[in-house]
Amino acid sequence: MTTEKSAVFIIFGGSGDLAHRKLYPAMYNLYKSGVLKDHFAVIGTARRPWSDDYYRSTVVDSLEDVDDDEKAMTEFSKHFFYQSHDVTDSDHYIALKNLAAKLDDQFDTGHNRIYYMAIAPRFFGTVAEHINSEGLKTDGYNRLVIEKPFGRSFDSACDLNSSLTKTFSESEIYRMDHYLGKFMVQQLTDIRMKNKTFEKALDHKYVSNMQITLSESLGVEDRGGYYETAGVLRDMIQNHIMQIIGAVAMDEPAKLDSDSIHEVKRAVFANLKDLTPEEVDQNFVRGQYGEDATGKLKAYREEDNVDANSNIETFVAGKVTMSNERWDGVPFYVRSGKRMPAKSSRIDVVFNDKVEELGIKPNTTVTFLIEPENGSSILVNGIDYQSANQDFIKFPEDSHYFDNEREAYESLMIDILDGDQIHFTLWDELQNTWKYVDVIRQQWDNETPDFPNYMSKTIGPDAASELLEKDGNTWVWDA
Ligand code: BG6
Repeated sequence: MTTEKSAVFIIFGGSGDLAHRKLYPAMYNLYKSGVLKDHFAVIGTARRPWSDDYYRSTVVDSLEDVDDDEKAMTEFSKHFFYQSHDVTDSDHYIALKNLAAKLDDQFDTGHNRIYYMAIAPRFFGTVAEHINSEGLKTDGYNRLVIEKPFGRSFDSACDLNSSLTKTFSESEIYRMDHYLGKFMVQQLTDIRMKNKTFEKALDHKYVSNMQITLSESLGVEDRGGYYETAGVLRDMIQNHIMQIIGAVAMDEPAKLDSDSIHEVKRAVFANLKDLTPEEVDQNFVRGQYGEDATGKLKAYREEDNVDANSNIETFVAGKVTMSNERWDGVPFYVRSGKRMPAKSSRIDVVFNDKVEELGIKPNTTVTFLIEPENGSSILVNGIDYQSANQDFIKFPEDSHYFDNEREAYESLMIDILDGDQIHFTLWDELQNTWKYVDVIRQQWDNETPDFPNYMSKTIGPDAASELLEKDGNTWVWDA
């Protein structure tokens, strides 16, 4: 049964691309399913001086590909209000506070507040501090949602966290990693816990190697400016890839609740084996895309807002290892890049020949497809698990196998409304992933790469294949 939720959302960056592309469609779907109904209001804030009517028309426009029920879309948009806002101006926060209080009365939202940071990261701290100093928090719940990137390094993440925790406690902070909202990533825990033989096989005794690939066919598009400050290492490895490692490598949680799951995940990140600068050179490869074979696609260095001599990486492949007994000696090969031949997000678990002891054919590979099918399949040796004729892995009968339509943002929005941090990144996890990635970044910043080193629409630099060949392995996905 769907329970209706009550809250006033304050969206900082309400006129922006993220809000229109992801948040409003997700909220609309929640509205259609009755999670949001009569008792919610949204205040969009941004610098531009928009009227409520204009803002509402942009909200309706953002739903163009979602629905054609004009009446419902118009009714939905009546819950939206616009407030022009300068993030550094205290008076504006007071106006915001008064508007939120008014909407609280009008929509009877129980004084609940969701503050959503869909703005440039450099403003996160300023906004949080003003929420505190201008007394926006209420006696309902107050939840802060933070989009990535959460810092650019361990030190800057610490600074950001300190500025947020002056206003919000850890249990009020929801750090978004939209990969944790994806169907297959969410199902992984359930699949592991309900397939006992497979779970037992997830151990250094039986796993030859793990491979996590998040490849994209697009380039940086219009995000060159941001990308120049990030690169794949910060954009995909520190967060999405690390969180997937957390989900496949964690031990069995005592319960399937947020505290128990975070407890076992935290242990994974604490067990990441630190890298020395020499190990960075041996175990990590970076790349940057050039033109494609036809010369039609631009090289990264020719993209808008990108330095013509940029040394920012658009591809990373690496070998991550862990210091606990379960994963002793097992390489977790990770790979992510732009302008690869196809979009594919997948986890390949490659077993060795000893796995036969457990009744699994030697050298079996199990693949979890996260994208593009949004998590509809598990493959065994490249074949759909239902046709593969092996019963050690399947979707649990009670899983929502056929209910995988929910988009990541919608699913995460429900968690926020429920006050459930299960699919969000906690601070102690993040500290360890930043520390791990910082060593790579620092080593790379000391050396000048020979870029570009892979052509657009290809699988990445040769060194990425050689990395596995050195260990006698190969990438399962080679497009
Ligand atoms: C974002 C990155 O976090 O994830 C983007 O900033 C990337 O650069 C995107 O394109 C990929 O997400 P998805 O859901 O399309 O795989």
